[in-house]
Amino acid sequence: MKLGEQIQSADWKKEKHVPVIECPDKVEAETSFSVNVSIGKEIPHPNTTEHHISWIDVFFKPKEKDPFTYHVGRFEFVTHGESTKGANTGPIYSNPDVTFSMQANSSGTLIALALCNIHGLWESSKEIQVE
Ligand SMILES: [Fe+2]
Repeated sequence: MKLGEQIQSADWKKEKHVPVIECPDKVEAETSFSVNVSIGKEIPHPNTTEHHISWIDVFFKPKEKDPFTYHVGRFEFVTHGESTKGANTGPIYSNPDVTFSMQANSSGTLIALALCNIHGLWESSKEIQVE
C-alpha cells in the first residue's frame, strides 16, 4: 500500500473536502504573489471541535525536469474554538482558509493536501506559469 492511494480528489464544487487553490495563473519570476487555499468554498465544511480540517500542506512540483516536489507551507489548525461546556458548544470556530505569499522562479504545479479528522486526506492542484 502507498500513502498516495489513500488521498482522495474530486471537483471542489461538488465535494466539500477538496482544497481550493486561488492564485494568479501567470506570475513574474522572483516576484511575490498571494496564494489562498480554502476548504469548503462551494459546500461549507462543518469546522467544529468534533469535525474539522486539521491541516493544509502546500507543495510545488516544477514543470522542468526535477525529481523533487518542494514543500512550500504547512498550516495547522490546532485549535477549533473548544469550549469548557463540551464539544461543539463554543461561540466561535476557526475556518480552514489560509492566505500566504510565495515566489517562484520556474513554472510548475501547486498541490494542496488537507486532512479532515473524520474523512481523511484530500488534494487538488493548480498550474502556475512563471514569465
Ligand atoms: Fe470532513
